[in-house]
Amino acid sequence: MKFFIDTANLDQIKEAEALGVLDGVTTNPSLMAKEGITGQENILNHYKAICEAVSGDVSAEVISVDFEGMVKEGEALAALHPQIVVKIPMIEDGVKALRYFSDKGIKTNCTLIFSAGQALLAAKAGATYVSPFIGRLDDISMDGLILIEEIRDIYDNYAFDTEILAASVRHTMHIINCAKIGADVMTGPLSAIKGLLNHPLTDKGLAQFLADHKKGN
Ligand code: E4P
Repeated sequence: MKFFIDTANLDQIKEAEALGVLDGVTTNPSLMAKEGITGQENILNHYKAICEAVSGDVSAEVISVDFEGMVKEGEALAALHPQIVVKIPMIEDGVKALRYFSDKGIKTNCTLIFSAGQALLAAKAGATYVSPFIGRLDDISMDGLILIEEIRDIYDNYAFDTEILAASVRHTMHIINCAKIGADVMTGPLSAIKGLLNHPLTDKGLAQFLADHKKGN
């Protein structure tokens, strides 16, 4: 399973990259705003800086909600850097834009996926990635992991190339369960990625090894 980090924070992106397990980055307009990145020029420069900090795919989201606007914005984003993946919302014009970019060989990430039907439509339209938001489904007492299972079954039935990018990941168990189900990618915060490191028996065992080494020297 590929690991993407879900942030626009350059320090966190660099920290995850330095860990040696990072395969890409996802951003969204809220994450960009959280970092105080506003204004078209700053936004484009920030995407470029993220691409230069990592070696994998970097999702950059369009703001337009009409087909022509998405095409114009998406083409400008894709021209920024070869690692850019154009992130398109799951709406009617978004589906048309997915098909447009797919036909042009430009990578896409269809975002705001909350049902298996939406994921099927995005795959039919040639999306490179679909982003089912599992944490936000959990937030409303629905099981986000069931959606990942449903999409996995559907994509396997028809050998769709579209990759399942489990998004809105909040904690380590989301990552582990997505890996068990067979999500192709997960995108989550640095805290969830680093949370995978932790086990009290590892800490206890290491402390013992170091103490025993000290005694013998
Ligand atoms: C996906 O690409 C989104 O950026 C993200 O995962 C949303 O996560 P949230 O529900 O924690 O905002």
